[in-house]
Amino acid sequence: MDTDDFLKTIVINSNFDLKETLSKLVSATESRLKAGFQQADINLYIHELATINQVLISGEGFFNKENKNYLITTSDRIIGNICEPLVQSVLPSTDSGTNLQVLLGVLGQLYSQCALVDEETLKNALCRLEGHINIFLNEKLSKSNFESDKGLVDFRTVIEVLKYIVSAVCKRPDFKWTKEQNEKLDALFEKLVTSLDILTVNVIGTLCIPVLLKILKINEISYTENVRKVWSQILLFSTSSVEDKRKPFILLCGFANQFFPVDGNVCNLDIRRDTQFWTILQAGLHSKDSLNRKRALYLLKRIVDICERDGADVSSEGDSGSGQHVGHSEGRHPVFWWERGQSKALSKVWEDFILLAEVLEEKQVHVIKPLLPRMDTLLKACTLPKETGRALLHTSWLKVVLLRCSLHESLQVIRWGANTALALDVRHCPVIEQGFLKYLSGEMLLSLREPKLYVREVGSGTGSMPQIAERLVTFFQGCWHALPSSHRGVYFCGTVETLCGGDWGPIPLLFTLRALAALPPAPCLDANTLRATRKWLTADLVSMYSFYRGMIQVFFVKILTKLIDKTLVPLEEVLQILSLVGRDECLVRGSVVWQDCVQFLAQPVEDDTSGWSGRGIKMYIHKILKQYLETSIDSKYSTADSVPALTVARLVMLTSTDTMATKMEESPCKTVAEVCEQVISVVNSINSHVYMSPHLADKALLLLNMLADEMGLSAWSSDDPVSVILQGTVDRCKGEMVRYISTQIIQGCTQMGDVWRIQLYMDSVSMLGKAGGGHPGQGADLYRLLETCITPFLNLQFTQSSGLHEKLQQLGCMGVLGTVANFLSNSPATQACSDLIGQLSDFMKKWKIITNFNKPTMDISVNKQEWGKFSSQFLTSQWQVVQLVLDRSCGPCLDIQELLPLAREALTVGVEETAIVVLKCLKLAISKNTVGEEALCDILDGSWMCLQGARRTITFWDVLDAFTCLAFHPALLVSPKNSPVIAKLNIYAEGLLELGQDKNGVVNAMCDQLYAGLTGPGMIINASKFVPLIVQLCMFGNLVQRCVRQVYDICAALEMTREHCPDNPRLNIVKNEDIEVKVKVISLLCHLDPSDPSHCHLATSVVKECLKKYVAVSKGSANRFSNSLVHRQRHRLIQTVLLLQGLVTKDYVDELWAEMWVSLEVETQPSVRHILEWVIIWALHRHQHLRLQLWSIFDKYRNTKHLTMSSLLCIVIHLGPKLPKEEQEVFYRQALGNVLPWCMAHHFQTRLYSQAVLSKLWAQAGRLGLTAIHTANPILQTIVDFNQENRNSTKNVRKLLDSFFFKFLDFKDDFSLETLYKVMPQMTGLSEEDWIAPELFPMTCPAWALGSGPTFINIRNPPNQFDKCDPSLWKYTTLKLAEAEVEEGGGERDVQKKIMPWRQMLLEEEVVSEVDHGVKVGPTDGLVVVTSLINKVPNLGGLCRTSEIFGVSEYVLGKLQYVEDTSFQGLSVTAHKWIPITEVHETDLSDYLQQRRQAGYTLVGVEQTANSVSLTDYTFPTKTLLLLGNEKEGIPVDLISQLDVCVEIPQQGVIRSLNVHVSGAILIWEYRRQQLMKETSSSS
Ligand SMILES: C[S@@+](CC[C@H](N)C(=O)[O-])C[C@H]1O[C@@H](n2cnc3c(N)ncnc32)[C@H](O)[C@@H]1O
Repeated sequence: MDTDDFLKTIVINSNFDLKETLSKLVSATESRLKAGFQQADINLYIHELATINQVLISGEGFFNKENKNYLITTSDRIIGNICEPLVQSVLPSTDSGTNLQVLLGVLGQLYSQCALVDEETLKNALCRLEGHINIFLNEKLSKSNFESDKGLVDFRTVIEVLKYIVSAVCKRPDFKWTKEQNEKLDALFEKLVTSLDILTVNVIGTLCIPVLLKILKINEISYTENVRKVWSQILLFSTSSVEDKRKPFILLCGFANQFFPVDGNVCNLDIRRDTQFWTILQAGLHSKDSLNRKRALYLLKRIVDICERDGADVSSEGDSGSGQHVGHSEGRHPVFWWERGQSKALSKVWEDFILLAEVLEEKQVHVIKPLLPRMDTLLKACTLPKETGRALLHTSWLKVVLLRCSLHESLQVIRWGANTALALDVRHCPVIEQGFLKYLSGEMLLSLREPKLYVREVGSGTGSMPQIAERLVTFFQGCWHALPSSHRGVYFCGTVETLCGGDWGPIPLLFTLRALAALPPAPCLDANTLRATRKWLTADLVSMYSFYRGMIQVFFVKILTKLIDKTLVPLEEVLQILSLVGRDECLVRGSVVWQDCVQFLAQPVEDDTSGWSGRGIKMYIHKILKQYLETSIDSKYSTADSVPALTVARLVMLTSTDTMATKMEESPCKTVAEVCEQVISVVNSINSHVYMSPHLADKALLLLNMLADEMGLSAWSSDDPVSVILQGTVDRCKGEMVRYISTQIIQGCTQMGDVWRIQLYMDSVSMLGKAGGGHPGQGADLYRLLETCITPFLNLQFTQSSGLHEKLQQLGCMGVLGTVANFLSNSPATQACSDLIGQLSDFMKKWKIITNFNKPTMDISVNKQEWGKFSSQFLTSQWQVVQLVLDRSCGPCLDIQELLPLAREALTVGVEETAIVVLKCLKLAISKNTVGEEALCDILDGSWMCLQGARRTITFWDVLDAFTCLAFHPALLVSPKNSPVIAKLNIYAEGLLELGQDKNGVVNAMCDQLYAGLTGPGMIINASKFVPLIVQLCMFGNLVQRCVRQVYDICAALEMTREHCPDNPRLNIVKNEDIEVKVKVISLLCHLDPSDPSHCHLATSVVKECLKKYVAVSKGSANRFSNSLVHRQRHRLIQTVLLLQGLVTKDYVDELWAEMWVSLEVETQPSVRHILEWVIIWALHRHQHLRLQLWSIFDKYRNTKHLTMSSLLCIVIHLGPKLPKEEQEVFYRQALGNVLPWCMAHHFQTRLYSQAVLSKLWAQAGRLGLTAIHTANPILQTIVDFNQENRNSTKNVRKLLDSFFFKFLDFKDDFSLETLYKVMPQMTGLSEEDWIAPELFPMTCPAWALGSGPTFINIRNPPNQFDKCDPSLWKYTTLKLAEAEVEEGGGERDVQKKIMPWRQMLLEEEVVSEVDHGVKVGPTDGLVVVTSLINKVPNLGGLCRTSEIFGVSEYVLGKLQYVEDTSFQGLSVTAHKWIPITEVHETDLSDYLQQRRQAGYTLVGVEQTANSVSLTDYTFPTKTLLLLGNEKEGIPVDLISQLDVCVEIPQQGVIRSLNVHVSGAILIWEYRRQQLMKETSSSS
């Protein structure tokens, strides 16, 4: 008998005056409440309300029978005087205390108990509650208002009370329910639905939905109408901007039974037919909120399940039954549809979709990977069937999966998604109709922005394109062909805009643009898109790395020329874009892109009056030229003039071709000539035309310079008609030009702004020189120019107090001298040149070199920083003259001893531009060989410091070149070995190596000079001064970071595919740095001559140094991984040893041999081992005394070194055939005798090797005609035959015999740079950065390219069979034999599923607990697992995971802090986050168990005890507590006695007990299994 019944009996049978008791109780509470609700009294209220309620329940019979009226009035009184005041006082929204919740509970119970006393009271109660809701709705209160206005009712209290009332009604089917009450309920329903708008999801889930569901149940008449109200509210949520996006989904799931009933009995409202529903659902699947995604997926699964089951009867609203289509969006392309006839195909597609959507929620790739191939099903399902009909899947579903892929953490998943998207066949997929095109040009494209996607596939070889890059090409072309021209524009404009608008890194941008550039022409781009590109070109392009920038611009221009629609875009706009593109990086005249532009301009246009017609273009040129040449009296030249000048010059150059001449119906180059005529007429009248503004003259000069630049910097040639015109132009106006320039320089530059004019004049002088070439006339003009500059210049005072005008004069004059000198330095010697050189040499005799060009102090308008630039320009020009004179002057014009300190000073004060010239001067000075050692060291130090200072400047590379040319000049390399100069050079080399660690190209620059210096005639022996450096260079090359390697790969790939990009010198350095350094140093060593003892001596010291380093590198790091830096450095060192072993001097041979064996004992990398073996083979081959020691080594390594033994065995097979004939028989006899015992070795690998070697030796002996060997050992034939039989190890023996080292390599014939540096690294699995292609070597030494080669090694191999050797097989034999296993991919095989049937999905507990059909209730009262006795953390972590997986409702730990332990989390993964964990210390266990027993749990000990029940016989009650025992002691006896039962797992083995996690897991599973069985049987 429970407490309630007991009380009732007592009450009924005693003489209690229930009325009086009740009245007293009610009065007491009433009077307390009258004084006002006090928070402190909560517990009192709880007690009083519960008591009143208990009295009402206990006295039910009594009151109902005799005192109905009393009951009704008292109930009214209770509601009015107790419940209502409390309803108004309890504010759960602002107070979340537990006792408040309890109070709410008792209040709800009491209210419902009273309300249900009769119909009238109920009606009144509902009215009161409705009243509260009305107030609430009218006020639209938010949570914070409750705090400020305590007088208002808390909505949550109202709903809570309502919940109790409707629940009570549901439990009383006999209760009379009137129409009036129904109407009241309908009104309440409506009010509640409206209020959802302002309630939190939490309140909706926990309170509103349960109440609404109850009302639906009670009021069947309005069922459909009410469901419709909910749907309308959902629609409102989805369209309005409700903050909480969870609302529509919590409602859809909460009302899943109404919207998607499992029996298919949909009320009149089937929302699956409504596209809006599918839009909401897909928004849920796309949501950032994982709960929304989960809910949306739940709904989808449910719908698919119902559709699968009911087929065509999904929606039966009067349809003829031929097939019901739900989710129609655009006519024939419903977002979702189901047809009985297609059920099977649809089921498969939806299964795959759901599997993917669900698995993509997982993080672990191994779970996802096997399912990824299923994306192909989706892809296919989106395409239209060959015969007529719909595609099975609307593409919007594909988008769901693709977007999830693109957001995934794993690159593999992202890549898969990208590849799938790009594999979409647009031709057979209704992308346009389904609105998918926008996705393709927007989000899909943006999802390809991950640069790591563009890594080329492993094993694809350098120079291959990343797979995705090729897919992009195919994809865009597919779109191009598939889209009608009406949609092409939309799509491609969208695509280009996405590229310009999104935040794109250079790599993805490069490949996407490349793919677009590969499209066939399709005029479709409009002006808007063009403007977007313009914005991009002016803003984003600037910040790109230079080595990407060129290619990106090339692709951009190509795209524009192919896609621009001339009818939509005016010529001006396109030209503006074209003048934003870099000339040298992209639009070099004559390059492919440039020609594309010409072609684009030349295409005929239909409309003759269009700006794009020949006439239109011509008119435009004249128009912009006219505009450009417009000046006013007071306008002045500025750098801004260069923008329009460039536009004119670029367009004029583009029209200078024959094709354009045809289009413009004129003779070739006519426009260029016309423009030039205008320039000539301006320049030639400058000096005579008094009123002409110098600005106009300057503009004309600028345009001429621009035209020359656009023509191509090195393109002055009589074969080029444009060049001829420009040369003619210069020629015709050079006299006036020179006159104008000298006048302006001496007189015309007076203000700071004029420095730009000085720059313009210097450029013009340079152009004049270049245009003249060898023309004697030009010489005369330049001579005159120099004359007009030199004389006044020498007269000028160089004092601090000079004024600005004077300073500008000096700057201009020196600028002109420097420009001429620079031009002469780069020109061949002609008479005209030597006159000019003579003139400058004379100047130098009179000129006193200055080291500082001070700012004019008088002039405050000059800012110091700005002046710095001009000062450096002055100094640079001065040193340019010095350089020319040092280099080309006939007589001694300069005193080098005087010059050196000035140069030294210039290095410290000047900027890099100056330093570069000064360093060149110094190089010239030291090559004259008159510099003393001390001065040399001083110069070197100064130069080195200057280089250090330039580290972060853009001119660094030029400074570096100048420095290395100076430092590693042959004149210095010949210094004595112990001299301070050599010591310094070695120190700088160290410094450069260090700098090269993070600056690609530095070491290369040094290596270039070193190589050039040391390979000169008789120079190589000087290499002995740099042995440690040479060895450092041999092992050079860091681990290349993945992103850097990607850059190499991209460059190589683009080069291989011959993308037409202008050469980028920096790119070459980036690309080849490591390899080139190695190629240079190897080539240098290859210059050694074995017949020269001094060379052999040098080679020996290199080998010794290599071995020293080899040991140091191995010691320095414990990293034994393949391809680790240590591995690769050791490999490179030993390669050098092998390269030079033939040159090693006799006295070192034995030592080297011993070193090789010592190394073999410890070396673990196959790549290195084989080289060591090869060195030994060579030594044995060369030296008979070593051959005599060979067999004793077999004894040495007996029992100990298995790896060394395998090497020894390998060595033997190579030697025999190459031995002198007379030694062979003895050798084979000894070899067979020594190898045979090892064929039975215990060690697997040794046994394998010896069996293979034995077979090989036997065969070799046969081939060498050593019949005596065969006849003397017939038994061996049997062993060899036996090995051939099909035994377990034979397969491995065969593999070994077929491997590269056993079968293919001929140690003598194949001793080549190719085998050493390409084949071996490739075969032994070294990463590609260590493969050096043989063709690179002759590039360093052109003589080798002509057929000769190094004296002691071939470059290439003789024809051999290497290409027949499979590297994977080779790798197999070199690695542990057991490791070879091939992983296979997924496809349709069974896969690990992380799939949850929708019926078991736990959504929001509060919601689903009320959904009594369909979704399983969360485990609140299920299994409790107690682990307080366990103290090994891994066991606890493991049990936590097991408990979570099997839905344990509570996991009890001795200490909560265990959860923080890494070994706990390592095993629990994230289980601890998903399971309720409680802490019960071991000492509190006894009390805890008691509490649990009182709460109705059965206490089960998991233990082997004398009375244990076998698990096979035990049935678990639902409320079970499992107590697990301690690892050592099990469960203590005192606790066992408290338990209800002990259960044991029957054991068969010898061992005493199971591990505690295993035992726990078995019991937990058995519990769950029994529960599942129970559920199945009850549901069936
Ligand atoms: C390694 S045993 C503890 C030592 C064990 N009680 C003894 O006899 O020495 C650790 C725990 O695993 C569980 N266990 C091991 N074997 C079991 C079995 N066959 N049946 C039930 N529980 C077992 C018990 O909870 C036990 O306390």
